[in-house]
Amino acid sequence: MKQPIFAANWKMNHAPADATAFMRAFLAHFGKRQDRGVIFFPPALSFGAVVGALKDRPDIQLGVQNIYWEDKGAFTGENSATIARASGAKYVLVGHSERRHVFGETEEETGKKVAAATRAGLTPIVCVGETLAQREAGETEMVVLRQLRAALSTVSSNDAGNAVIAYEPVWAIGTGKTATPADASTVHQAIGAELRRLLDSGSTAVPILYGGSVNRGNAADLLAAPEVDGLLVGGASLDAEGWASIVLT
Ligand code: 13P
Repeated sequence: MKQPIFAANWKMNHAPADATAFMRAFLAHFGKRQDRGVIFFPPALSFGAVVGALKDRPDIQLGVQNIYWEDKGAFTGENSATIARASGAKYVLVGHSERRHVFGETEEETGKKVAAATRAGLTPIVCVGETLAQREAGETEMVVLRQLRAALSTVSSNDAGNAVIAYEPVWAIGTGKTATPADASTVHQAIGAELRRLLDSGSTAVPILYGGSVNRGNAADLLAAPEVDGLLVGGASLDAEGWASIVLT
């Protein structure tokens, strides 16, 4: 019986006061339970408000949406993995498609971020996914597995085995188009097989999440698909009641 992970990526939404109000509403719908993991990724400036709102709920985890790969220094505007960890984060998103496609993050940079996260004791959630053109050209697996190998190439197989992977097809993010559970499962199985090769192990404990236009209507079917261990949700995580109903799927 798998214990699914529900991760809310708020992206650039919810100022501190909105984040506090969200948490008040969400916690009213979501009591403590052991059978699922919940992680929030607020924007950096709202992180402290969410830490405060969750002070009595250690069952709910927090992560940051991005880090820089150096530990400290003259890097105006950036946050390090060390600062994130000291602020209460346990997770960090690395290689999200918006970082890759809006901000030009390269595969080499995702590797450096995974290394920095690991050094600081943060769990990286490595996001991989193909564009529509790559999918139509039959390159999905090649692209996704290349992104996966590049991101994990900087850490030992032991540390890679502590990562989380999120498969987020770029064409499904924020578009209302979702991969079918069967399509998602095919890619998840390919990721799982590559992880077993990389980690030189017959099985891995690395959870593989699906993301891309997940909503209340499709969450249960996606979660039921083989090798889908959880969901990484953007738009549908912004409303407290709606998100609670997804988490309680
Ligand atoms: P949407 O759920 O809004 O499609 O976003 C998915 C995503 O990018 C989560 O990281």
